[in-house]
Amino acid sequence: IRKIAVLTSGGDAPGMNSAVRAVVVSAINSGIEIVGVMRGYEGLIDWETQPLGLADVRNINNQGGTILFTSRSERFLQKEYREQAAKNLRDHDIDALVAIGGDGTLRGAIAFQDEGINTICIPGTIDRDVACSEYTLGFDTAANTAMEAIDRIRDSSVSHGRCSVVEVMGRKRGYIALWAGMATSADAIIIPEKWDGDFDSIIDTIKAKHADGRNSYLVVVAEGVTDAPELAQMILDKTGIESRVSVLGYIQRGGQPTAKDRMYGSLMGAYAVDVLKKGGTNRMVAIKNDILIDYDIKEAIDIQNNQLDSFQYELSKLLAE
Ligand code: F6P
Repeated sequence: IRKIAVLTSGGDAPGMNSAVRAVVVSAINSGIEIVGVMRGYEGLIDWETQPLGLADVRNINNQGGTILFTSRSERFLQKEYREQAAKNLRDHDIDALVAIGGDGTLRGAIAFQDEGINTICIPGTIDRDVACSEYTLGFDTAANTAMEAIDRIRDSSVSHGRCSVVEVMGRKRGYIALWAGMATSADAIIIPEKWDGDFDSIIDTIKAKHADGRNSYLVVVAEGVTDAPELAQMILDKTGIESRVSVLGYIQRGGQPTAKDRMYGSLMGAYAVDVLKKGGTNRMVAIKNDILIDYDIKEAIDIQNNQLDSFQYELSKLLAE
């Protein structure tokens, strides 16, 4: 291995910069030249790149977002553009690619394998929805950001005696909702993995607490499961309690990464370069039992794992007194 490229793709996630930094520093320490590809797979198609040296990644551990920028590339779904991207890599004598991102990034790498490109993937997405890995970069920061935002919302909710319905991100996974909701002792947490449409039990819970003298309530909803404004209206209609909706949105994607995201980013980035040095091809870096491992990317995508911990979910209900 003489020369490699690194990119970040899909939704940006805190900790991606630590991974980029670790890839760059580890590569340079091993005498491997490294090129940064801008805007994910889009930059690979358009050959928007920059050589990366130690100075380029100095003091970036604490930066949110990704210094390489990112995209959700529609073009990369088409073979002709993947061929163009592969040609670009070959024309520039690049032996392998490190791609940091979520499920879409992994799928892109699998398709890219057919063009003869060796890609090592690192799981980075706030959703924690890459099934083969117990952890994905950005989750910890996003969950903490959501938790802090909900703490603030609760202050206002308590002062006014309202019910706050807070929508958090997570696409098809309820991890951010579960962690942020449990950390703020939410009265109800609605997540895709467990939601059975039982609005009545949420209303009954709020009514019972109201009868017991409680004056404020918190419902945390993962995006896409149910319509938060409709839920707030239903709570008002059926309980008479004033309800307000907050959609946390992209606030959850940004900000300074937590120590965990910086640490795991560093570990995963260095590990990816190690995999390449050992001759690994088309591998997915993952965490299992808190240890770094790697899978073949095609095997990785087939791993089905309803990661969400039922015990944690049940406990969140028990603790919502
Ligand atoms: O994958 C991370 C995520 O923030 C999801 O939680 C959310 O559904 C999605 O990205 C939003 O995508 P976009 O950045 O394309 O609007």
